[in-house]
Amino acid sequence: MGAQLFEPVRVRETVLANRLVHVATLTQLGRDGLPTAAQAAYLRRRAAGGVGCIVTEGVSVHSSSRPHPGVVQAYRPEAFAGLRAWPQAAAGVPVLLQLWHVGRQQLWGPREAPWGVSPEPDALSGSVPHVMTDAEIEAVLEAFAAAARQAEAAGFAGVELHGAHGYLLTQFLSPWSNTRTDRWGGDAERRRAFVLELARRVRRATGPRFIVGIKLSGHEFVPGGLTERDAADLVAALAAEGLVDLVGVSQGNFSLSLERHVPDLHFPEAPFAYLARTVREAAAGVPVIAMGRIMSRATAERLVAEGWADLVGLSRALLADPDLPRKWRGIDGEPVRPCLACNVCWGRIHQGRPVACVHNPELGEEERWTPPAPIPRRAAVVVAGAGPAGLEAAWVLARRGFRVTVYEAAGEPGGQAARLRRLAGLERFGELVDYQLAQCARYGVAFRLGTPLTPEDPVEADAVVVATGSVPVRPTIPGWRGPVRVPDEVPDLAPAPPAGATAVVVDEDGGYYAYGPAEHLLARGWAVVLVTSRTALGARLDYLSRIGLERRLRTHDVPVWTGWRVVGGGDRVLLLEDVFTGRRRAIEDVALVVWAGARRAVDDLWRTGREAWFRRWAPIGDAFAPRDLLAAVHEGHRLAREIR
Ligand SMILES: Cc1cc2nc3c(=O)[nH]c(=O)nc-3n(C[C@H](O)[C@H](O)[C@H](O)COP(=O)(O)O)c2cc1C
Repeated sequence: MGAQLFEPVRVRETVLANRLVHVATLTQLGRDGLPTAAQAAYLRRRAAGGVGCIVTEGVSVHSSSRPHPGVVQAYRPEAFAGLRAWPQAAAGVPVLLQLWHVGRQQLWGPREAPWGVSPEPDALSGSVPHVMTDAEIEAVLEAFAAAARQAEAAGFAGVELHGAHGYLLTQFLSPWSNTRTDRWGGDAERRRAFVLELARRVRRATGPRFIVGIKLSGHEFVPGGLTERDAADLVAALAAEGLVDLVGVSQGNFSLSLERHVPDLHFPEAPFAYLARTVREAAAGVPVIAMGRIMSRATAERLVAEGWADLVGLSRALLADPDLPRKWRGIDGEPVRPCLACNVCWGRIHQGRPVACVHNPELGEEERWTPPAPIPRRAAVVVAGAGPAGLEAAWVLARRGFRVTVYEAAGEPGGQAARLRRLAGLERFGELVDYQLAQCARYGVAFRLGTPLTPEDPVEADAVVVATGSVPVRPTIPGWRGPVRVPDEVPDLAPAPPAGATAVVVDEDGGYYAYGPAEHLLARGWAVVLVTSRTALGARLDYLSRIGLERRLRTHDVPVWTGWRVVGGGDRVLLLEDVFTGRRRAIEDVALVVWAGARRAVDDLWRTGREAWFRRWAPIGDAFAPRDLLAAVHEGHRLAREIR
């Protein structure tokens, strides 16, 4: 019998209360390179949820690492005045400051200050870095040591050196990025020299109790790149000199292997935990953190009990629900608000916007957030529509003490999310509905399913929330004689007819509303062609998830016609027009067209409803304007908090 998840663990001289670690998560809540109270509030909330240890978001240690003004520039003299608030906010939970140098991978500003190891282009931006001289390498080593020293003075329990994901440390370690022939490159030992020297400097700069951790890519998943053997050899070398106290094992870099860095909903649980296990075997007792799409208590417990890792790292699961550790322990009776692995959070920060979660409206707002206030009298509210917006409004209202009745025209609740969950690969979106329904049940929401609310209904309620959603527009294609289906109908379509028939999926959506049906049809044996008038696929997906989409479509040899629109058809023929040149072409043997395009708000209830109902409440979610899940859930939540 191995260790227990909720059993304490010693890291150097610090005892962590349990084995759940908040792993580094950039929030983009920093401003002009300086820390903010919003970041401290974010950390305070995660600590209150019961994690054993917090690794903060990455902070830049040197002016040559300037990925984005939302990233804290810890090298500026004024930065630590604010950073001091971070360990204080965590109120007793040990906090490690993640020290970060991006090297050539400057993300948002690739041409601003790209220092790198070798003159090889950054895989993401294509920019070629300035090759660091010995003096510059020395300056960066000292910058890490200085940041660690200041972190200790500021009250952090330790630091984590960011050696993963293709940033500067990985760039030194990997033969894929390090082509130097001096003392910093050439063979595996010399490629490791920078990280070993860095760990020595940081150790020397800090006191005996101070934790020095490192995060590594256990595998880079690029040809000729780092593998778990390299990670294990490095950790063995670090452990032999007693240089590190904690090792986090992640994966990928910012090449196409980025898909694996934050595994989205198409991956199984804990797909890369095996990397942590290999590293742990070489770690000589130094505790190892496994991470990467660990979402359930059962998996977390198994990894620790079976010795795959000493600790379990969580990023997205704690964005969705900071109270997850307390809930897993049964301290808090509420259900866990599960991470959908939709990667909206990651997409947001990589657009340079503050982090946000589809179904946790509190994320990023912790500084201002107050729990929804109870109401003095048990007033009644009717919610029309049991989609994500309506369900969110319903449970939050009921929790506040309102008597809530939900009317839903369809026979089942869930709306858009319930339809998405029926598509192969997107089942996880259903967990959003499951959570909302569990909360509705917990707080006693009444349901009238299969019962649309009409303006004639004698509703006795103090307020009506109109969350009637949207319907897809089904276009007519001149001359086309076959069926045109909308995405909502795809789960009910029959498997592919006899060989030779093609389904054309018209993607005017740029998101899962188009790719869900396409992949669903592929899974059911259809030949699929994707057509979009945009110049690229996946405009509404984050860059990371788009890689996975491309890979899966290419695995099935799906032809993709970008920059073409459908203008007509004939018998089993679809006619396309090039949006730039007007040139035309035909797709033959078409048996089915699926059109993922515009939706229209279902707002007649609101537009024809009795004035009194709507004195104060506008329609929410798609009934206001068809948008995405985040807009629906957040609007439902906000409205439910505001009704008095
Ligand atoms: C929004 C977001 C921000 C992240 N920021 C960082 C970061 O600053 N440093 C880092 O090492 N990893 C960062 N990561 C990666 C996570 O630490 C973790 O390795 C990855 O998300 C897999 O864990 P998960 O499946 O629990 O989310 C980030 C991930 C997300 C989703």
